[in-house]
Amino acid sequence: MSLKRYLTGITPSGTPHLGNYVGSIRPSVQASQRADVESFYFLADYHALIKIDDPARIQRSTLEIAASWLAAGLDPERVTFYRQSDVPEIAELTWLLTCVTSKGLLNRAHAYKAAVDQNLAAQEEPDANVNVGLFMYPVLMAADILMFNAHQVPVGRDQVQHIEMARDIAQRFNHLYGEHFTLPQAAVEEDVATLPGLDGRKMSKSYDNHIALFAPRRELEKLVSGIVTDSRAPGEPKQTEGSALFQIYQAFASAQETLALRQAYGTGIAWADAKQMLFERIDREIAPMRERYSALMANPAEIEQILLRGADKARARARPFTAELRRAVGLRDLRVASAAAPGQRSSKPALPQFKQYRERDGKFYFKLQQPGGRVLLQSSGLDSPQEAAAAIRTLREHGPGAFAKLACLQPIAGIGQDELAGALALLKPDA
Ligand code: TRP
Repeated sequence: MSLKRYLTGITPSGTPHLGNYVGSIRPSVQASQRADVESFYFLADYHALIKIDDPARIQRSTLEIAASWLAAGLDPERVTFYRQSDVPEIAELTWLLTCVTSKGLLNRAHAYKAAVDQNLAAQEEPDANVNVGLFMYPVLMAADILMFNAHQVPVGRDQVQHIEMARDIAQRFNHLYGEHFTLPQAAVEEDVATLPGLDGRKMSKSYDNHIALFAPRRELEKLVSGIVTDSRAPGEPKQTEGSALFQIYQAFASAQETLALRQAYGTGIAWADAKQMLFERIDREIAPMRERYSALMANPAEIEQILLRGADKARARARPFTAELRRAVGLRDLRVASAAAPGQRSSKPALPQFKQYRERDGKFYFKLQQPGGRVLLQSSGLDSPQEAAAAIRTLREHGPGAFAKLACLQPIAGIGQDELAGALALLKPDA
C-alpha cells in the first residue's frame, strides 16, 4: 500500500482561536496519526507577507501558531512540520510555475476578483491597492502543494478554487515537460463543525468575535460568559437550534454529554449554568494543551529548532526534485548534451514516457518509451482506455514489482531488466 501524502499550510497572520482548533488543528492532528498517511504541515509565512507588512506580527504569529500545533499534539518526528520560507526551493518553483500559468486563470481567482469588485464599487481603478503578491497567491500555493506531490490538501471551502488552480497549473507543466507532478485534490471535511463566535456568526478574527485558543482559564471563563443568548429566564425551556452556546458545546462534548445538555435546555437550565458547563467542558480539553503551550512559548529556541529540523526533512525532497524540474525546463548543465538540435525545440521531455493509443483493431494499447524512442514495454490490446490507464498507474506506483500482476505486458527482446527498472524508477510518483 502506498502512503497518501496530505499537505496543508497555515498562514501566520494572527493568534489561533477555538474556531481554528475545531475546524483545522484538531482534525489535522488526528489525521496525522493515521498509519496510511504521510503529512506535511507548514507555516505559510511567504503568504503572510501578502497581507501583513508588520514584521513583528509575522514573527509573533509564526511562533504562536507553531506552539499551538505542537501543544495540540502534532508530532514533528512523525510528520514534516516546517516553515515555508525555510524551503527556498518553493520560491524557485513558484517562478517555474508562474511561467506556465496563464494570466487569465489568475484573473478569475476569488480573492483577486473580490479586491477588484470592491475597487470598482468604490469607483477606484480596478487594481488600486492590489499588490502582485495577492494576484500570484494561487501560484505560490500551487508551488507549496506540487513541491511535495501531495495527493490530498485538507482545506476550508474558501480554498477549493486554489487547489483546482494548482491542478490546472500542474497539468499544464506536465503537458509541456513530462509527468513531474501529482494532481492534488482538495479534501474538504464535511462533518467538521464551523464554530460560531461570541455573537453567533462564524468565529473569525475579522468579526472580532473569537475566543483565543489558549486564553488563560479566567479569561476563557469571562469570554464564554459573553456568548449571546436570548432573554429566556431560568426555568423556561430553551431552544438548541440557533444557539451558539449549544453548538460550541457540541464541538467539544461526546454525544452523550450533548444529549444531556439538550435535555437541560428542554427543562429550562439557566443560561448562567449552561455557560458554566460549556466553560468547564472546553477547559477540560484545552487545559493540558495550554500548559504545553505556555512551556513552548517560554522557549522559542526549541520551536525554532523543531522547525529547522522539519525544513531539513522537507528540503531533502525539495532539493533533488527542484534539480529535476530545472533540468526538465532547460536550466541545465552545459556539459550535458542537449537532446534537441540547435534552434529546435525538443518536443520530447528528457524522461521516459508512457504513451497510450488506439489501433485499428479498436483496442487500446500503451507502451513505455525512452526519450529517444526506444520501446521498453509494450502492452497487448485492452478493451478500454481506463484499463490501460490503470495498468500504467500500477507500473508507476510499483515499478517492476507490478509485472506479475499485469497480464497485458509482453517481454521485448533485447531490453534488459536494468534499463526497464531504471526507467520505471524515474517515473515513480514520488521519485
Ligand atoms: N491559503 C491557505 C489559507 O489561507 C494557506 C495555504 C498556503 C495553504 N499554502 C497552502 C493551504 C497550501 C493548503 C496548501 O488558508
